[in-house]
Amino acid sequence: MPERLVDSFGRVHNNLRISVTDRCNIRCFYCMPAENVQFMQRAQLLSFEEIERFVKLAVPLGVDKIRLTGGEPLVRRDLPSLIERLAAIPQIRDIGITTNGILLAEHAQAMWDAGLRRINVSLDALDPVKFQEITRREGYEQVLEGIQEAQRVGFDPVKVNAVSIRGMTESEIVPFGKFARETGAEIRFIEFMPLDADNAWEREKVLYSQEIIDVLSQEIAPLKPLPTQDPTAPATDFEFADGIGRIGFIGSVSQPFCQSCNRFRLTADGKIRNCLFSLEETDIKSMLRGEASDDKIREAVRESIRGKWEGHEINTARFLQPDRPMYSIGG
Ligand code: 5AD
Ligand code: SF4
Repeated sequence: MPERLVDSFGRVHNNLRISVTDRCNIRCFYCMPAENVQFMQRAQLLSFEEIERFVKLAVPLGVDKIRLTGGEPLVRRDLPSLIERLAAIPQIRDIGITTNGILLAEHAQAMWDAGLRRINVSLDALDPVKFQEITRREGYEQVLEGIQEAQRVGFDPVKVNAVSIRGMTESEIVPFGKFARETGAEIRFIEFMPLDADNAWEREKVLYSQEIIDVLSQEIAPLKPLPTQDPTAPATDFEFADGIGRIGFIGSVSQPFCQSCNRFRLTADGKIRNCLFSLEETDIKSMLRGEASDDKIREAVRESIRGKWEGHEINTARFLQPDRPMYSIGG
């Protein structure tokens, strides 16, 4: 049995996030530039066969949990067939996707049939004007239809990721609280992180989880923490005191969860990143396309994980924003 993916801080890595494309059909300002994005060429992207080989060779390293990301994963043609290949690997016990929801109504059933069971939809505003301000594109109605369709197909719960930005999304807090209560979707507020292409992040623009908890408690009902089911999960989950409506908080800036991190990433162009904020990456694609044996590739993955740092340093003066913005890393 090959050695598992343990770093020098003892963290075990079983959770692989795979970006399948850097393309996206909207342009959230905290992730992408507004115009003239230089996307990867098709030939640069890992094929589904290459992704499948990688996952299979990573299984003996302890990988048993996968999330597909982008860009927007549903713009990659025939995505359900990748899900099917990955779901057929017996040791993979959990496959999820993070999507912006625009193409979700169209593909929810096919993804369910392929074996997907977890969906997170990124939606930062329930006000259509605000949606457009943030995403710089149309598509609000399609996202709402996507959420509904995913629920109809059987995804339960559908989670909604809402990035919290000071000066912009305060007005969305209460509507999202009500939305969680009315639809059964679980809303997860994520603190705005410095991963935007425009380098416009400032600490003053982070709307902190605690402030949102206070607003929801005052305006809707008290929130009570739920017992943690997975100690490596980045979200802290709450329920309204009357038992109706679940809300999670990902306090990436105010409460970094690096010490329990079990995640690493494979970018659409085949690079391993041991942290969202890594400044270095390991080229796996050239190994997959060359003569490298599975063992050799496993050794490269282990090496990358061994070199993982303790955590992001957003809260220090040393912090350096990675070269790749979010859409190119994969969420
Ligand atoms: N800060 C916080 N969250 C972000 N996401 C994308 N960019 C950022 C950022 N700069 C979110 C997306 C998606 C998830 C993968 O990460 O909205 O829901
Ligand atoms: Fe697209 Fe997601 Fe980036 Fe928004 S956050 S631009 S939906 S990849």
